[in-house]
Amino acid sequence: MHTIDDLDVAGRRVLVRADFNVPLEDAGDGTRRITDDGRIRAALPTIESLRSRGARVILCAHLGRPKGEAKPELSLAPVAARLSELLGAPVAFAADVTGTSAAATVAGLADGDVALLENVRYDARETSKDAAERGALAAELAAFADVFVSDGFGVVHREQASVTDVARLLPHAAGRLVLSEVEVFRKVLGDPDRPYAVVLGGSKVSDKLGVIENLLGSVDRLLVGGGMCFTFLAALGKGVGSSLLEVDQVETVRGLIATAERRGVELVLPVDVIVATAFSADAEHKDVSVDDIEDGWMGLDIGPNSRALFADRLADARTVVWNGPMGVFELAPYAEGTRAVAEAITRVDGLTVVGGGDSAAAVRLLGIDESGFSHISTGGGASLEFLEGRTLPGIAVLED
Ligand code: 3PG
Repeated sequence: MHTIDDLDVAGRRVLVRADFNVPLEDAGDGTRRITDDGRIRAALPTIESLRSRGARVILCAHLGRPKGEAKPELSLAPVAARLSELLGAPVAFAADVTGTSAAATVAGLADGDVALLENVRYDARETSKDAAERGALAAELAAFADVFVSDGFGVVHREQASVTDVARLLPHAAGRLVLSEVEVFRKVLGDPDRPYAVVLGGSKVSDKLGVIENLLGSVDRLLVGGGMCFTFLAALGKGVGSSLLEVDQVETVRGLIATAERRGVELVLPVDVIVATAFSADAEHKDVSVDDIEDGWMGLDIGPNSRALFADRLADARTVVWNGPMGVFELAPYAEGTRAVAEAITRVDGLTVVGGGDSAAAVRLLGIDESGFSHISTGGGASLEFLEGRTLPGIAVLED
């Protein structure tokens, strides 16, 4: 894979695919406010390197899933404003993807300038299943630039015009973010220091089956919390009350438990959970053993004994990968499991990787020092597909 250091960018137009798919909320005055700018900050090393070497930087990104419609609430305008603050330099914002505004914006760039094109998914061709349609959009994007840099790690698992097709039309390289993410995931997949522990959480076990199957071939310990642990507990014959349960996955999970046993993987499940009478911060809640979850009660977090157990099984690990919260961390009474696991990981002496999406959001929301982790991935689905051992099209195309 070529890197941006291999490129001669001075005076050249560089199209950078970034992942600016950030969470937004209504600011109350008709505008939208970014609630977590982690993905924008993660793009800065590439943008700054290109600018400082005299490139004309044209950023292309998506926000949400507008399905080919120009939905104002999914405009990248707030991202342009935030990026400009972070760079301490103007960011020219084009009001369309490849139309007259984009063309004029690109034409107006001087060396070292930065522009951001409007949400690329406003154009239905971006996500089209038809390669010719995608190719037509890619050709329009490619016409703006001399080289292409892929730096949106969060989208490298997508076969989309601005991710894969455009890379086939221009000389290309991986940006700093994509490079650092790929290096970390290749290390944990290929040559992890041991003991190697993976902590999985989040609501649905069905989203993580591929990951678990792949990891059972390499991990020493697999710790499971979050909503998905109840399908594991049910597979072991325990009652889970009104907790989240994927009945159709119980048999599959039973198979995974057997595989773990056969391969000598230590499977660590919660021994107690915080149960509540409703999915609400005000609901009555208490700590119970996993053997005593009554009907009408739902598990919303791992309990204090489980927190201690998980921290203990992480303490001497040399590689830890964490994906998915341990409970409903957005509601204060159910945030302690996620906090305890995150803090235990920050104490690990070795490579610690936080899978993107909800776990990265939890780290920031709970105010945990980000510098305590070796790597916080910006990829949600992309990092999961990496851990599944799949070939990611947006990476494969860079290796051509
Ligand atoms: C993400 O948020 O995981 C990425 O930006 C990809 O978004 P998508 O799932 O809508 O393709």
